Amino acid sequence: MKKARIAVLISGGGSNLQALIDASRERSFPGDIVGVISDQPAAYGLERAARADIPRQVVQRQQFATRRAFDQALMEAVDQLRPDIVVLAGFMRIVRGDIVARYAGRMLNIHPALLPKYKGLDTYARCLAASDPAHGTTVHFVSAELDAGPPVLQAELTVAADDTVASLTARVQALEHVIYPMAVRWLAERRLELRKDGVWLDRRPLPEPFRVRPEDLSV
Ligand code: GRF
Repeated sequence: MKKARIAVLISGGGSNLQALIDASRERSFPGDIVGVISDQPAAYGLERAARADIPRQVVQRQQFATRRAFDQALMEAVDQLRPDIVVLAGFMRIVRGDIVARYAGRMLNIHPALLPKYKGLDTYARCLAASDPAHGTTVHFVSAELDAGPPVLQAELTVAADDTVASLTARVQALEHVIYPMAVRWLAERRLELRKDGVWLDRRPLPEPFRVRPEDLSV
């Protein structure tokens, strides 16, 4: 089967990008990362892409007079890569405009919370402040509303009494690095589909996101 062309959008460290790069080096992985786009020129993820010899492009909000012009330029940069799949990996801008419809069912995001809980920023601090017993991360299809697209895959862990924002971040990110490549693989293999009535996995509706726990993932 032809490998899926994958575009990855980043803003920062790119540890999820690295997990995808590592996964895509496996011969059995059904996709190739054909380009990385960052809205931050100093994003460390760009160095990770350079090391892996992946084409890179920076599209900065400040280069454009209006948000609309930026949205258009971002879409053009993505379109140029002719991706089958668009992966948001720590991309810190809300993706909006025509790009959302154009890549509907082909664009994924990962958000460090058990959505629908804790959309937006500072999820770790909010989880600790609320003394939640559990926290985790969600891969979801991207829709026009922030962190609200149909969820696909969640990894959940038990919050420890001595967890801090730093420790929780590290533990959740370790889960992200396993589940994000997993979800991208499902999408590339067409096992995962966004249909009119919601998310389907393996030709069956997935009314709740697929859930995994650390013990299932050996992290
Ligand atoms: C991840 O934790 C992801 O959940 C969130 O942003 C973070 C990006 O981290 N959307 P990295 O740049 O992949 O290291």
